[in-house]
Amino acid sequence: MAEQNIQFKKLVAHCKEYGFIYQSSEIYDGLGAVYDYGPYGVELKNNLKDYWWRAMVQMHENIVGIDAAIFMHPKTWKASGHVDAFNDPLIDNKDSKKRYRADVLVEDYIDKVEGKINKEITKARKRFGDSFDEAQFRSTNPRVLANQEKMDTIAKRLATAMSEEDMEGLKNLIVELEIACPESGSRNWTDVRQFNLMFSTQLGNIAGEEGKLYLRPETAQGIFVNFLNVQKTTRQKLPFGIAQIGKAFRNEIVARQFIFRMREFEQMEMQFFIQPGTEMEWYNYWKETRLKWHKALGHPGEKLRFHDHDNLAHYANAAVDIQFNFPFGFKELEGIHSRTDFDLNSHQELSGKKLQYFDPQTNESYVPYVLETSIGCDRMFLATMSHALVEEEVTGAGGKTSTRDVLKLHPAIAPVKVAVLPLKRNEEGLVSKAKEIFNQLRFSFNCQYDDTGSIGKLYRRQDAIGTPYCVTVDFESLEDNTVTIRERDSLKQERVPIEKVESIVREKVDMKQLFI
Ligand code: GAP
Repeated sequence: MAEQNIQFKKLVAHCKEYGFIYQSSEIYDGLGAVYDYGPYGVELKNNLKDYWWRAMVQMHENIVGIDAAIFMHPKTWKASGHVDAFNDPLIDNKDSKKRYRADVLVEDYIDKVEGKINKEITKARKRFGDSFDEAQFRSTNPRVLANQEKMDTIAKRLATAMSEEDMEGLKNLIVELEIACPESGSRNWTDVRQFNLMFSTQLGNIAGEEGKLYLRPETAQGIFVNFLNVQKTTRQKLPFGIAQIGKAFRNEIVARQFIFRMREFEQMEMQFFIQPGTEMEWYNYWKETRLKWHKALGHPGEKLRFHDHDNLAHYANAAVDIQFNFPFGFKELEGIHSRTDFDLNSHQELSGKKLQYFDPQTNESYVPYVLETSIGCDRMFLATMSHALVEEEVTGAGGKTSTRDVLKLHPAIAPVKVAVLPLKRNEEGLVSKAKEIFNQLRFSFNCQYDDTGSIGKLYRRQDAIGTPYCVTVDFESLEDNTVTIRERDSLKQERVPIEKVESIVREKVDMKQLFI
């Protein structure tokens, strides 16, 4: 855990030092759980959004995109259930005056018990070596069994309390488990109460409740209310999907873990409209399809896992998370939800407008079911950065070893695709040749020209921002129009004619690489 903490701190520091992420309004000591993306951060985030959009919209004939407004008619949130049910249970510690999510306190407790199990397994693996059978150990070791039972019992009680909105039951669980305030160690808790997570603001010309507007807590509702507009104008037949990328806002009580839980964040959501009764088929399809999308980026299978929801949201009849092993453990990265006809039905009821699909095959009209995939861009950013940032030892010319921080991002999503560097900054001939190459390449990619340091320092800087290729212009370049291309991960350098640089880089950074 201590090692994980160090890694996480290093990642946060790296994000700031190299212009990926800054605390919002930092000169005023920052605003909790709100962040700004810097020059490299915005490029990486845009590339991740582009990868998602292409995979969902461009690669699926039956998925189209929209960009709905953040503000929606207030009745939207009544129909969706967010006014009444989009709550988190909060609890205050009377001594430290700190506020927590009651369910998160219990989940953290469960994580600690799981930590004990993992410790036993690590110890046993060391002891038994290659012959270690984890499944057998889990099913026979008395300490593991006891802790597993404890975890399961607590998780079940938590799920029941959450789904029944039993705030007293939740408080009892915290008291029984003797959970202490992480800040002060005190067990002096208030009662648990519900807290609505929506931010609200006021429409200019209408005072009071009537003019109350909400900042959308999910982008999905902009899709639901446009379902018929899109279906009719694009003549889509079921099954078909609508995708959207946009900001969402939640007044999160627990703001921690950097950009994992933010108050203003971005979602990439897709609602797939289907025939009722086919939802489990599509649920399984989207589970597998989305997992493949993550793996294609280079995220290994062992860092990703499915986690079925114990506690279903008010709109879902099945739900699973794709969890990622962040530096602070496995946590939700993406949700796949079978939302039934809950949303369309509710909007139909409250608006009095029909939201039905006429099925030409069965000659029937019905409200479609919906299968949703929903991923936070910011969480995807964090997952990608945390996997990519590596500290490694490298051997330079002359056999000297040193360490470098390198962001091993897939070339297709790297903020800068190629950097053009003159070997010596004070040599007019090298500088002008390098600028000439840079001015050509910039038509094709996001590139950088840099002559602000020694070549070793320039390479390290490009490694730290994840640039997959560095082109170095040296004296030989002036004679024979060749340059060296240095590959970020293998550190291999190859001499190539200048006119070939564009096509070499293009092939490697093409987003097509992620789809084939
Ligand atoms: N439309 C369904 C929906 O909004 P959700 O599980 O509440 O479902 C979907 O959110 C995804 O949005 C999550 O898997 C997560 O990646 C991201 N997300 C949710 N709350 C977030 C927050 N406060 N900060 C950053 N990302 C968040």
